[in-house]
Amino acid sequence: MRRILVAGNWKMNLTVEKARSLAREVARRTREGAAAVDVAVFPPYPYLLAVAEALSGSPVRLGGQDLHWEAEGAFTGAVSGAMLREAGCRMVLVGHSERRHVFGETDVQTNKKVHAALNHGLDPILCVGEKLDEREAGRTEQVLARQLAAGLEVVGGRDMPRVTIAYEPVWAIGTGRTATPQTASEAHAFLRRQLAERFGSDTAEATRILYGGSVKPDNAASLVGQPDVDGLLVGGASLDAESFSAIVKGSSPPC
Ligand code: PGA
Repeated sequence: MRRILVAGNWKMNLTVEKARSLAREVARRTREGAAAVDVAVFPPYPYLLAVAEALSGSPVRLGGQDLHWEAEGAFTGAVSGAMLREAGCRMVLVGHSERRHVFGETDVQTNKKVHAALNHGLDPILCVGEKLDEREAGRTEQVLARQLAAGLEVVGGRDMPRVTIAYEPVWAIGTGRTATPQTASEAHAFLRRQLAERFGSDTAEATRILYGGSVKPDNAASLVGQPDVDGLLVGGASLDAESFSAIVKGSSPPC
């Protein structure tokens, strides 16, 4: 049985004080709520230590929004997996669409980051997703297959229990235009078939595949209700404790 994961990607938002109080509030509400789902937050780098402290003793996991593939050295502006670990992270986003399409990150770089994460004890969330023109040209599956295969190159089945996939159609991110449960479901089923071809059906069945892109409290339950949707990667709606908690609650299996 795959456990649902609800992850909040705070992107380049908040102040340190706001980040700290949001983390405290998410921790409090997660402790109070049923622990039926995993919850994680991904703050900006300068807030990691403050957020780690605010989350200490809570089940909420901490993650980095990105990492560099080298462990240290002359890479101005970059942060390594080792540094994220030291700051208290246990997870990291890799290949988020903003990294790919705003910063020009390639499939090869994404793959190096997946390996760096695994080598530094961070569980990677590999993000994949098609742009609007690619969907309209009927190339969604081709893009997803390429990003998935390239991102997981030379990753063995042994490491797959630590890997999460996030399907985030680029046209749905920050646009208010969520994929319908049907569209998400088709893409997730396709990704799972790809995983099965590569790693076998047991590994594919055990791998979590999250949906991301304009997730809100009122669409969380219908998305997570799809058989291949194992959780949510939430941007804008994770910046408010009330709406993020409502999404966590909406994603919880009925007790
Ligand atoms: P959004 O962002 O929920 O604001 O669309 C999702 C993401 O980029 O992870």
